[in-house]
Amino acid sequence: MNRREKCSVNEVELEQLWRNLSSKVTYQNQRREKKEMNVSKNLFKAALAVLLVLSMVVITACGGTQATTAPKVYTYKDMVVGFLQTGSEGGWRAANTASFKETATQLGINLKFYDSQNDLAKQVAGFRQFIQDKEVNVIVLAALETTGWDDVLKEAQAAGKTVVLEDRRIDAADTLYATYIGSDFALEGRNGAVEMCKLLANSASKNVWELVGNVGSSAAKDRGQGFREKMGDCGITITKSQTANWSITEGKQVTEAWLKETKDVQAIFAQNDEMGLGAIEALKEAGLKPGVDVKVLTFDATAGAFKAMLAGELNVAVECNPLLAPQVYEAALKALNGESLPKWIPAHQGVFYAKDAATILPTRKY
Ligand code: AHR
Repeated sequence: MNRREKCSVNEVELEQLWRNLSSKVTYQNQRREKKEMNVSKNLFKAALAVLLVLSMVVITACGGTQATTAPKVYTYKDMVVGFLQTGSEGGWRAANTASFKETATQLGINLKFYDSQNDLAKQVAGFRQFIQDKEVNVIVLAALETTGWDDVLKEAQAAGKTVVLEDRRIDAADTLYATYIGSDFALEGRNGAVEMCKLLANSASKNVWELVGNVGSSAAKDRGQGFREKMGDCGITITKSQTANWSITEGKQVTEAWLKETKDVQAIFAQNDEMGLGAIEALKEAGLKPGVDVKVLTFDATAGAFKAMLAGELNVAVECNPLLAPQVYEAALKALNGESLPKWIPAHQGVFYAKDAATILPTRKY
């Protein structure tokens, strides 16, 4: 083999040698890089862990671990509602109670119903029962009277209960409850006086007898006050006024007693339909034509009032809507989820006349 051949063989070997060498170098580089990568990966993980621990320490040092847990989002199915109803004094109340029971079933709300039997002491005792009831997270109150609620409301607040007022307002500070959903009773009263002025427009004297709801309730106080604010516009005088506790029987008895004294009455201002229907019975038994000789104006506009309007015995009914449950449950859910609410959510209400009774009665839900 001459020198040139030897050289080319060496070159091939050299090349082969070089290739091996560089692949070894590459391989080692790759291994080193991989090693470095693992090291930096582990370093990164360690740094992350340290960071996490550090932030936990900081958060704990700044006030406990709550911040870490997202606030619970309540649904209707989480609501356990303690409902303090006034009692069962008539058609309006029955419709109001049914609204709460039926809507609770529809929404999957656990409703605990308490009948206060129109007794304030029983209603306050029931309120305390619901405060102590660990399951209850919402208390709904239809207050029998406007006063006497500050203490139990503070206890409920301390126990973390959400309180919503329905139907009747109270005199306590509105910081003690989430919101009130109900009618503007004073506006109803003013509307009633405006309608009474129209009814007595052709009557020389305007002596009116007032049948009042339960003493101390916002409905009775505000309707009476609202009526008195406007009655002067046409010279109406309230010559007799007495509670008949929203009842048809007492409405009849009180009117009977008055009729024994005098028949100088041009109209009855009955603060709800039932008391007005009782007065109608008494007027008829006294030989007077209700709706004609003596005008009759009531509040609620339940089916019973429309039937009396159809019979020509009742002239005007100022509506008070009892179907409040959907609004109340919606507001309670918002309050449970920390949403702020207006302190008063007025209920829809209207005025109904005898001339429209035949058309409207079939459409009424209560
Ligand atoms: O609070 C509303 C009143 O309560 C209704 O007008 C009456 O019928 C009920 O008893």
